[in-house]
Amino acid sequence: MQHGRRPKIIVSFGTRPEAIKMFPVVHALKAHGAFDTRVVVTAQHREMLDQVLKMSDIVPDIDLDLMQEGQSLDALSARIITRFGAVLDVERPDRVLVHGDTLTAMMVSLACYFRKIPVGHVEAGLRSGNIYAPWPEELNRKVTAIIADLHFAPTPRARQALLAETIADENIFVSGNTVVDALLETRRRVIANPALAAAIEPLLKRFEGKRIVAVTAHRRENFGAGLTSIAKALVKLAQRDDIAIIFPVHPNPAVSKAMLPLLERIPNIALIEPLDYPNFVRMLDASDLILTDSGGIQEEAPSFRTPVLVMRETTERPEAIEAGTARLVGTSEAALVAAANQLLDDKNDYQTMASKINPFGDGSAAHKIVEILCKRHLP
Ligand code: UD1
Ligand code: UDP
Repeated sequence: MQHGRRPKIIVSFGTRPEAIKMFPVVHALKAHGAFDTRVVVTAQHREMLDQVLKMSDIVPDIDLDLMQEGQSLDALSARIITRFGAVLDVERPDRVLVHGDTLTAMMVSLACYFRKIPVGHVEAGLRSGNIYAPWPEELNRKVTAIIADLHFAPTPRARQALLAETIADENIFVSGNTVVDALLETRRRVIANPALAAAIEPLLKRFEGKRIVAVTAHRRENFGAGLTSIAKALVKLAQRDDIAIIFPVHPNPAVSKAMLPLLERIPNIALIEPLDYPNFVRMLDASDLILTDSGGIQEEAPSFRTPVLVMRETTERPEAIEAGTARLVGTSEAALVAAANQLLDDKNDYQTMASKINPFGDGSAAHKIVEILCKRHLP
């Protein structure tokens, strides 16, 4: 820190989930006022990032606008490190905060390392133990952890995973997951102003009287066979006339290519564009069951008391399985159909899952993160 000025912190992110999980941190830093807080987005995602920036009233100080249609991992990595490195050379921050496990997190961290700028890692310590599942996220977060000197672990288990990788205890802080802050704040805003989530209402009205099954899928390791098998399972499930499936389709072209041909013309399946966060929160609130390969949704759903079936082979969020808020089902058609039917038909089983407490936090994570940053950077 240079004398006589506020320490400069750059908060960086690039994708929808990072933006959702970092907006509470940006708000808390700005409200505190002790830091010169700048937001630099890589825009690894475009429309989905912009949806979150708009609803959270964040105008980035720098927008690198890097997304390209069907971007390859290597080309995107090269663009992030080169362009973010140039930003660091001009801005010369005292610290950079990154989030989670995206290419943005890893490549921004590397650019910082090359300049010896300290990195704080929000949502640190999630591990599946398999660098190909989720791919490439497991490696992204491990590399980020090697570079960071502040690790904000959402749970005690995440802290243990970092300790096992010889990360120093005094650099790890259990903060809870900022997604719970984001969710509670957004739900409050929607209750105060229902117009924020009006876009989803016509669809909920159309499916009135049916139980809502919400679906999302986007993991790269599920592309191909996994996504096709998920689509086939949804075709089977949609034969039940007591349910309706709402599926906001991730804009990665690989997802629509797998889903549209099989699911497009089924009356009780609605394939829709990605919802902005307030509308998605409203839809989760109205849902009876969630089928997803998303990380963030596993952390949000327990706050709605909605059971989650995780369409992945491994998980870095075993807390959800242990707490009984989620079940790890994989992507086999038969397993998915059986697990969904079980919960839809067995009231006791459903109630048991729906009664559990969210293990990922209580909505105070951003505040705790700012407190730690103050201890590190302020005299
Ligand atoms: C990325 C992250 C993943 C995270 C996910 C959240 C990497 C390697 N992957 O995966 O960890 O879970 O975001 O959603 O960092 N697209 C658009 N508009 C958008 C966003 C994406 O059109 O707003 C399309 C583009 O064609 C883009 C493609 O989706 O090229 C893939 O985006 P990308 O960020 O490379 O990977 P994701 O699969 O979205
Ligand atoms: N989400 C959203 N609109 C949608 C689908 C998801 O706002 O149409 C939110 C969701 O509530 C969660 C986050 O996006 O907070 C999850 O993003 P995604 O599944 O793309 O990524 P992951 O969490 O797997 O990294």
